Amino acid sequence: MKEQMHADVERIMLTEAEMQARIKEIAGKLDLIYKDKNPVMVCILKGSIVFFSDLIRNMSAKMELDFMSVSSYGAGTTSGELKIKQDLRTNIEGRDVLVVEDIIDSGNTLYALKKLLNDRKPASLNIITLLDKPERRVAPIVPDYTCFVIEDEFVIGYGLDYAEQYRNLPYVGVLKRSVYEK
Ligand code: PRP
Repeated sequence: MKEQMHADVERIMLTEAEMQARIKEIAGKLDLIYKDKNPVMVCILKGSIVFFSDLIRNMSAKMELDFMSVSSYGAGTTSGELKIKQDLRTNIEGRDVLVVEDIIDSGNTLYALKKLLNDRKPASLNIITLLDKPERRVAPIVPDYTCFVIEDEFVIGYGLDYAEQYRNLPYVGVLKRSVYEK
C-alpha cells in the first residue's frame, strides 16, 4: 500500500509540482536544440523510466525512443567496465542522441556508457539527468543538462528504488535510515 511507502520516507526532497515545472522548463530548451534533428532519446532502465516519460511528453520535437539496460561494476574505479543487459535497437551512427538518466552518483555508469555509445559514432551525444549528486563523483563525467543538483542522501521514488521498491512514488524522497539499516 502507498501509505506504507510514504511511512518509510524521512522527507520529501522534490515534490511532483517542482519536478514538473523544472522538466517543462528544460524540455523547452531541448526542443530548441533538437528541433529538426529527430533525436534518439535513450531511456536507461529502470530508474529513468518515469523521468523519461515526463520529459518526452513535455517536448514537441520529432523524436525516436529507445531503451537500454546496463550496470557498471568495479565500483570506485573508472575502468569503464559496463555490463549491457539490454542494448539499443537503433543504429545511432550519425544520429543525435540524448541519454536520459535518473541519477548520476559515482558517474561510473555514464562514464562507461558514454564511451561505449561514442564508439558507435553518433552525430552528437548528450546526457540529461534528473538528479546529480556531485559529492559522490568518482569518474570524470559532467552531464550536459541537469534538472536538480542534490546532496548525498539516499533518495527513492519517481523511478528510483531501494531493493526494487518505491519506484512508483510520485515524488523524490529521502529514505528513512531505519529501512536500510535493519
Ligand atoms: C542507477 C542510475 C544510474 C546509476 C548511477 O542505476 O540509474 O544508471 O545507478 O550510479 P553511478 O553514477 O554510481 O554509476 P541502477 O544500477 O541502480 O539501476 P536501476 O536504474 O535499474 O535501478
